[in-house]
Amino acid sequence: MVRLDFNLSEVYIVENLKSDLAGLLNSFQKDKIFVLTDDNSYKYCYPKIKGIDGICDERTFVITAGDDHKNIDVVVELWKKLSNGGADRKSVLINLGGGMPTDLGGFVASTFKRGLKFINIPTTLLSQVDASVGGKTGINFEGFKNEIGVFNIAHAVLIDTSFLDTLDSGNLISGFAEMIKHTLIFSEKSWLELKSFNLKNPNLEGLKKLVADSIAIKEHFVEADPTEKGIRKALNFGHTIGHAIESFALKSGRPLLHGYAVAYGMIAELYLSHLKLGFPLDEVKSISESILSIYGSFAIDKSTDDIIYELTTHDKKNEGGRINVTLLDKPGSVQIDIVCSKEDIIASMDFYRSIK
Ligand code: GLY
Repeated sequence: MVRLDFNLSEVYIVENLKSDLAGLLNSFQKDKIFVLTDDNSYKYCYPKIKGIDGICDERTFVITAGDDHKNIDVVVELWKKLSNGGADRKSVLINLGGGMPTDLGGFVASTFKRGLKFINIPTTLLSQVDASVGGKTGINFEGFKNEIGVFNIAHAVLIDTSFLDTLDSGNLISGFAEMIKHTLIFSEKSWLELKSFNLKNPNLEGLKKLVADSIAIKEHFVEADPTEKGIRKALNFGHTIGHAIESFALKSGRPLLHGYAVAYGMIAELYLSHLKLGFPLDEVKSISESILSIYGSFAIDKSTDDIIYELTTHDKKNEGGRINVTLLDKPGSVQIDIVCSKEDIIASMDFYRSIK
């Protein structure tokens, strides 16, 4: 396996998950190994690590897949299982699956006995380039996403891109949105390189390089500001309006995968970037058209703009009742905490509707 060159996080691109994980587990002192996975990953991904010395069925916990299970009841159940299974500070928890098991498992490991080591093995593109790296762990609470959690970097993250071979195209495209975000906040060159990737007929070797590049961009911001006091907020580009669109879509019975909502959010926030920071409008339009050509259109009627606006007021970045948005004055040039008004948000939704 190849270790990516970061100071804060140990991230490996693996060639053979079973032998690479076994080697990693042998490289540090531990007692019991526990595994957390969801029912889908148990079926399709767990066989790749089953049989490693120390990994066994009675210490493998399988939870129901789906973001609505990323909650405190499931956390309590897992704390009990760790306790009954004799977990102590020398134990290690391996989180195998998409963003749901890695977020929740990271939180469970970080809080049990004030912290066990945990290893993330992300199996979706979204979790490989985003959720599993950077140390955000947490659960949903009282209807708010990731409302409770802690920052805690995984002991190691193992990226096996062969999981992407069998990923459905919706989830591949969803994860790709975070890669688009990474390039836009980093440099025009990386955006142009990513844009030329053929998502309709993905070449797995090419994707592997782009995944490593994408994680490196994320790490660049995480290392500068691990607990998101400042520049890490760059990683929220597209997410203020993206999260609002995601919640709106769910409430209106047309749920969207996270990355699709972020893609639409990026279109709106590119326009806000023009409005507030002078990002050239022709470039805003051309990037937006490229994004829409991947994600297709999602109708949001003007009559519901007030709801979208209201949802943006719940964003975690807001302070003192102001809506703070991460914007760009050009690709690779980020400005955080740009205050946007209700009129700005509504103008950005008008722009969103104008893109074909
Ligand atoms: N997903 C954004 C971050 O990890 O900061």
